[in-house]
Amino acid sequence: MSNDEPAPQSLGDLDPAEFRQRLHEAADWIADYREQIGARRISPQEPPGAIIAALPSSAPSAPEPLVAILEDLDRIIVPGLVHWGHPAFFGYFGSTTTAPGILGEMIAAALNVSAMTWRTSPAATELETVVLEWLRKMLHLSDEHRGVVYDTASVATLHALAAAREALGLDIRRSGLAGRTELPRLKVYASDQAHSSIEKAVITLGIGEENVTRVPTDDEFRIIPAALEAEILKDMADGHRPCAVVATVGTTSTTSVDPVEAIAAVCRKHNIWLHVDAAYGGAMALLPEGRWAMAGTDLADSIVVNPHKWLFVPLDFSVLYTRRREMLRAVFALTPEYLRGDASANAENYMDYGIQLGRRFRALKAWMVFRAFGEEGLRLRIREHIRLARLLASWIAADPGFELVAPVTMAVVCFSVRNQQMSLPQVNHTVEVIVQSVNATGEAYLTHTDIRGRTAIRLAIGNVLTTEAHVAACWALVRAVSASAA
Ligand SMILES: Cc1ncc(COP(=O)(O)O)c(C=O)c1O
Repeated sequence: MSNDEPAPQSLGDLDPAEFRQRLHEAADWIADYREQIGARRISPQEPPGAIIAALPSSAPSAPEPLVAILEDLDRIIVPGLVHWGHPAFFGYFGSTTTAPGILGEMIAAALNVSAMTWRTSPAATELETVVLEWLRKMLHLSDEHRGVVYDTASVATLHALAAAREALGLDIRRSGLAGRTELPRLKVYASDQAHSSIEKAVITLGIGEENVTRVPTDDEFRIIPAALEAEILKDMADGHRPCAVVATVGTTSTTSVDPVEAIAAVCRKHNIWLHVDAAYGGAMALLPEGRWAMAGTDLADSIVVNPHKWLFVPLDFSVLYTRRREMLRAVFALTPEYLRGDASANAENYMDYGIQLGRRFRALKAWMVFRAFGEEGLRLRIREHIRLARLLASWIAADPGFELVAPVTMAVVCFSVRNQQMSLPQVNHTVEVIVQSVNATGEAYLTHTDIRGRTAIRLAIGNVLTTEAHVAACWALVRAVSASAA
């Protein structure tokens, strides 16, 4: 044996006894993290580059003990994170962690299977089908809607718009877009409140960013169907080809809900694909009193819902339901010889519905969350978040120094300062300072948004650990910092 050859003990995996010990320690670490997360600073204070500076610039050439690696995790990495699972993290649509979700992720990591075809992991494929059916029923979607799991809503919307583009019958899968002067411009419509993932999809699909028409919304930030139809008619008169309309149930800034039924009527009249972005708001359908939000979505060609936003499944887990899955297959099904042996003709091969071949076993964690909480448990948690949002809204409405700037339809509250002496730019600046000041305390985390030129504090509730006390403490913090922000 030459000196260059590795010693036999450096091959294979780590020693099983040591792995078991570290796994037990990691289990305690995770349980401690969850139990004590509320006592942590939410966001770090270090400037950009601090983590890079604390780490070696090259990988070690010799093995390092796991203990040393885990020590660095505690010392360098964890303090440099924003703790999205903190009960006072109110930014974005916070992706909540849950105990069953964490267990599902841990076990999926150990299994490391790929649900690309049925044969490559039958139970992963079939569990995905089962979980998608459970969710479809909880959301009250028609049984013509069939699902596929993707990582994020952005990717789900990309696939929906790819299907919509193929449904135009322009042979784009085969011939592409470039150099085809006979093709019309393709147009996609969404409200002026819709998410930027629509532009990203359109950019990726070669439709061109400028071919997204942002349709105006009413005073509750809902698309105006007559304005939508006017844009469509104008485009058709100009020789353009409408490709898809995207309606939103729960917009990012204010959780407004587009009138899906009226939009569906416009789409049907002009034979246009309707995609509904219910990434956040889809969860409302679980509540009898929340079903209004998803009214009409049954008429949609495709619907995206993100259980990683408001159904307590950890990032990432996004579902696209479509009554036209054959169009996804028409765009994406492609079986090279080296996969043919594993691509059974009489079973579901989820690789056929997207650009991804290797697919994580995401259904496992969703199955564990849906079982461990039960439909009633999911409902109770969603309802509590809405209650907390409304409670906060009532405190804001009662305070002469603040005002709500959008209706509270779900569990997001948008508000601003009220000050007759200040100009709009001063008010907007003050709001930004309030958000920065709250975040700098490390005790709560907020984001801001723009609502028709008005900067608003945006507070989103969605974490299973968040209680009324956390919301009250954050509100007290906002009021305290606002005194010095003006
Ligand atoms: C309404 C809406 N749609 C889509 C997205 C994109 O979600 P994802 O991060 O899963 O791509 C978001 C993100 O917050 C959103 O608010």
